[in-house]
Order: sequence, then structure tokens, then C-alpha cells
Amino acid sequence: MPLIDIIDTAEAVNAEDGETILSAVQRAGVAFSHSCLAGNCGSCKCELIDGDIYELERSEFALTDAERASGLILACRTQVWGDTRIRRLAEDELIVHPSRILNCHVSHLETLTHDIRAVHLTPYGAAAFLYSPGQFASVEFLPGIERQYSMAGIAADATLQFHVRRVPGGKTSTHVVEQLREGDAVTVRGPLGSSYLREQHAGPVLLVAGGSGLAPIESILRGIFAQAAPGGERAPVRLYFGARAERDIYHEALLSAWARDYPWFSYDIVLSDDSSTRRRRGFVHDALAGELASVTGMKAYLAGPPPMVEATTGFLKDQGMAMRDIHADAFYDQ
Ligand SMILES: Cc1cc2nc3c(=O)[nH]c(=O)nc-3n(C[C@H](O)[C@H](O)[C@H](O)COP(=O)(O)OP(=O)(O)OC[C@H]3O[C@@H](n4cnc5c(N)ncnc54)[C@H](O)[C@@H]3O)c2cc1C
Ligand code: FES
Repeated sequence: MPLIDIIDTAEAVNAEDGETILSAVQRAGVAFSHSCLAGNCGSCKCELIDGDIYELERSEFALTDAERASGLILACRTQVWGDTRIRRLAEDELIVHPSRILNCHVSHLETLTHDIRAVHLTPYGAAAFLYSPGQFASVEFLPGIERQYSMAGIAADATLQFHVRRVPGGKTSTHVVEQLREGDAVTVRGPLGSSYLREQHAGPVLLVAGGSGLAPIESILRGIFAQAAPGGERAPVRLYFGARAERDIYHEALLSAWARDYPWFSYDIVLSDDSSTRRRRGFVHDALAGELASVTGMKAYLAGPPPMVEATTGFLKDQGMAMRDIHADAFYDQ
């Protein structure tokens, strides 16, 4: 049985032959940065010191050839076949919540747009489901109908809230948007993901959401609001919500109420495909390029379609933002 030695923590975990590093460390409850679990996002990048490994396919965005040549690997795409030593990259506020399997039922369904539905789940049993704002879970609606969805609320809520957008031809999302009914049983496994709110960061925050990517961003906002003193000051929190057209916008009244209640919070909605709109037009990273004066002391949280997340990440890196300050969940399919 291979042993994975995480040299920066002096922790070592056992793995099955051929198991990925990420799977083994998660099973052992060791905090380890991750998001897509599929070699697409780069969140689980770490340094290989030595070991007997086999690397599965990955995207160039997640790990470039130059990074690989410098000794970096992706923990979610690296199988171990013998003892292996790794080092995690510098991370702030690593948090690990106990992994849970929750049996729930659908307590409420809401139509948010023509293709996005809010699903509210009530867990059976009394134990709280602990997660950090911005995390996601694996949600099983029927046997074999299971995908990752981000929580839109915070752990103190009585129900779990998800925003699911119907992807054309998508097995799970079509079931959720067209067939799911109140009372249906649903299993939630999690929490997962490391694109969660860094609660100790008091500096400026940039939030970028595309489509149903507003779900984890709302969660992060609610986490920030929960920390704020009523009527108090805070460094600016600015949200760009990108959508295709007017009919894809949701929760605008909620965003507007938050902007009224918290003067340091502001938002803008950017539409990519609507030539008749009076709102801002284009892609969110273009809107940012025209506005962002400085990234000093800032953290960014991005969620939604991979092209939007990748373009915005690229832009922020070009502005000098360190990758450790960019927390992104791109909704890759697996
Ligand atoms: C970390 C994470 C968090 C996520 N959070 C959310 C969330 O909060 N809300 C939400 O709506 N989705 C979210 N997703 C996406 C979600 O997990 C599914 O990928 C999506 O619902 C499609 O699943 P499906 O079974 O319907 O499609 P599938 O049957 O798996 O795929 C059908 C077709 O659609 C394409 N496809 C799959 N996913 C997408 C996509 N996201 N965009 C465009 N085309 C796609 C596939 O390539 C395929 O051609 C998240 C994904 C990740 C990785
Ligand atoms: S690349 Fe490993 S978690 Fe996304």
C-alpha cells in the first residue's frame, strides 16, 4: 500500500494502488486545495518531490508543460503506485469540514430564469451540515444522476439551496429543471472545494459570477455580510454578474437590497448577447479591464462557465494578482 508523505505538514496518508493523491488525502481528512476533481482547474497543483506515480490526462490551463517541467503535478490526476512525497503550494486559511452523506428531500422549488431553477433541500436528522461559503457538494437526484452543485446559502441556514441551470442535452440538469418535484429524495455528499471565503481577509474583494455561478458567489456574499458589523465600514466588495441576455438575470432585487444595506457592496450586470440592452454589454473580463484600478490587497472569487473563469483568471494574473488570491470554481463537466 503506497504511502503519501505531505512534507509541509509532516502528515502521511495511505493510498490504494493506483488511487489519486487527492482521493487519498481527502479520504484521510487532510485539507488540500481542489475544485473540479478532473484536471481542468489547477486548484490541486502541488510539488512532486519523488515517488512512483502515473499522470492522467489534464488540461493545459490547469497545468502548463512549463509548470510540469518545474516539478508540479495535479493531485487529482496523479495516481500513486509506490511511496510518494509531495509538498502543497502555499495556501491561506486551509479549512477541512467533516465529509458527510446527507439524506434530504426537496422542500421547495423556484423558477429563477427560463433555464435556472433553485432547489431547496431539507436534510433529515438534526446534525448541522458544516461548510464554508463558496463550497459545493456532489448531489444525487436519482441513481446515476449526480453532479456537483454549489451551495447558495450558508451553513447556518435550515435548508440547502442550489441553483441549477439546464445544460442542453444534460442528463442531471434537465432532470432537475424539468422533472424534479417537491418531496423527492436527494442525497448530498460533501462539502467539497477550496474556493471558499477567506474569512480573515479584510481587504477588497472582487466577485465574478456567470449564470448559475451566482450560487457560490451569493454564498460568499452572505458569509461576508454575516461578519460585517451593522452600519460598519469595510473595504469594497464588488460583484460583476455576467449573463447572456435580460432573461438570464436573476436575484437582481436581492443584489439591489444588499447594495442598499451595505454601502461598501456594489454590483454590475454585464450582458454578452443582448444588443438592445441599456445595461453594460460585453464580457465580464472586458468590463473589469475598463474599471479595475488596482489588485493590491485584493482577493477574487470567480464562478461559472469555464471560458469566463479562464479569461478572468488570465486578466487578473496579467494585472499582477497572485494565483493564491484567485479562488475559482469553473463549472467544468467531467
Ligand atoms: C465545482 C463545480 C460546481 C458546479 N456548480 C454548479 C452550480 O452551482 N450550478 C450549475 O448549474 N452547475 C454547476 N456545475 C456544473 C454541473 O456540475 C454539471 O456539469 C451540469 O449541471 C451539467 O450536468 P448534466 O448531467 O446535466 O450534463 P451531462 O449529461 O454531463 O452533459 C451533457 C452535455 O452538456 C455538456 N455540459 C456539461 N456541463 C456543462 C456546463 N456546465 N456548461 C456547458 N455545457 C456543459 C457536456 O459536455 C455534454 O455535451 C458545477 C460544476 C463544478 C465542477
Ligand atoms: S485540476 Fe485538480 S481539482 Fe481541478
